[in-house]
Amino acid sequence: MHIAIDPAALDPADTHKLTIGTIVPRPIAWTTSVDGDGRVNLAPFSYFMACHSYLPAVAISIGSRAGKPKDTRANILSTGEFVVNIATAALVDAVNVSAADFPHDISETDVLGLETLPSVKVRPPRVAASPIHIECVVLHALTLGDEPRASTLFVGRIVQWHIRSDLLDDGYRVDQAKIEALARMGGPFYTVARDPFGRQIPPWESIVGPR
Ligand SMILES: Cc1cc2nc3c(=O)[nH]c(=O)nc-3n(C[C@H](O)[C@H](O)[C@H](O)COP(=O)(O)O)c2cc1C
Repeated sequence: MHIAIDPAALDPADTHKLTIGTIVPRPIAWTTSVDGDGRVNLAPFSYFMACHSYLPAVAISIGSRAGKPKDTRANILSTGEFVVNIATAALVDAVNVSAADFPHDISETDVLGLETLPSVKVRPPRVAASPIHIECVVLHALTLGDEPRASTLFVGRIVQWHIRSDLLDDGYRVDQAKIEALARMGGPFYTVARDPFGRQIPPWESIVGPR
């Protein structure tokens, strides 16, 4: 038996609970951005996905706090640039602390003592401890919902990748298990992608017979 739930009948807190509890696990974009003064901001966002292979592009969705855009959302809206640092198991505590509601003038990279590296094509720097950095330029910024709970869904074109050399073999094949990619579950929970297993997609004729 399935329980039918109409989101229109729910409180925002409950639609939030269902969204983060049913769409799991979510990869984490540990995102660097800068404000107009060049101040660096770092925060994790799990409303994150790859969304085009050939542009190529990613999407992240960032909300509001107390009716005002979170710092990362405001920064990306004003600069059009961000860097996704892929979060890993080893970085979980730094990722988690970087989600605290620090005042705008406190940089999470300073608080956490994280080394940063300059990016090549955008202003936000990269987090050295992350094995994969994805430099992005905004292609689309779509507002979802209304304040005080609006979000912006940013579609960012990938303009530069930086991948730790030990993760790459055979050209552009990435050793995904070695990343130990951190992912978000519902509530305060995380998980780690440690045990990939494979399946080849069969030709349809091998299932139903040739036509
Ligand atoms: C693992 C994790 C994933 C998160 N994902 C999102 C998200 O997808 N969207 C969002 O608006 N907030 C998300 N948050 C909350 C933000 O990280 C948090 O509000 C942070 O303070 C925002 O920082 P900023 O104001 O410096 O941008 C997440 C928090 C954690 C710990």
